[in-house]
Amino acid sequence: MNRKPIFAANWKMNMGASATEDFLKSFLSKLLGQSFPAEIVIAPPFVSLAKLTEVLHSSGASNEAQSIQIAAQNCSEHDAGAYTGEVSVLMLREFLVHYVILGHSERRAIYGETDAVINAKIHKAREANLKPIFCIGETLAQREAGHLETVLRTQITEGLNNVSDKDMAEIVVAYEPVWAIGTGVTASSQQAQDAHALVRSVIAELYGQDTAAKIRIQYGGSVKPANAAELMACPDIDGALIGGAALEPQSFLEIIRNGCSNQPS
Ligand code: 13P
Repeated sequence: MNRKPIFAANWKMNMGASATEDFLKSFLSKLLGQSFPAEIVIAPPFVSLAKLTEVLHSSGASNEAQSIQIAAQNCSEHDAGAYTGEVSVLMLREFLVHYVILGHSERRAIYGETDAVINAKIHKAREANLKPIFCIGETLAQREAGHLETVLRTQITEGLNNVSDKDMAEIVVAYEPVWAIGTGVTASSQQAQDAHALVRSVIAELYGQDTAAKIRIQYGGSVKPANAAELMACPDIDGALIGGAALEPQSFLEIIRNGCSNQPS
């Protein structure tokens, strides 16, 4: 199965508008003349979306610029109204956002997002034709207690409740073991591959083999230029969701380059 890898920068609460502009100018100049058989996505904070859109589109003459897709880091499950601090999917559409990260472990742990809330957001994103990057992953305690499969199965089943086959085809899953996020500890490629194979098998149970074979599953958690190639060589790993190492243009580019150098055929 030929799945196009997807490398996404999740900047989290970093990179205001001026830092976004600086990053992008540097990144685009490094990218010039190169193309990768991969999708490149950047998820800045909401307040930097306008700058990202503006810089990408003002350099729109180059193919490089056009191949970068924009993601939001969150969206509201509501359409509009009295939800102080929230951002709706239609507002995101105005910034030409393609993807939205949903269910990130930081949203689950710090902001109390439940599988039901994440499910509502996935439905809302699909109504606006945004593609969810649906994050799942276990804590170290859950893994050590032998609950990896139960945790992932529950997150997938409840997060995707009532999501149609058609919408599922537009979703990217990101497996991010919580213990590997921002810690410098990466899952070994075997641990990551095993978890990805499990995720794909659960999706196959829910949506059939055909859909499962087409779904892209990113790995996230301390991905760096030095480990990207080994992780991306795993048959069920189809790209990466990158935090810290995507804050610097050279390092993000090297992850993409190294990851693409070692794709399974
Ligand atoms: P790090 O790459 O900083 O570990 O973050 C991973 C992550 O949470 C991406 O969503």
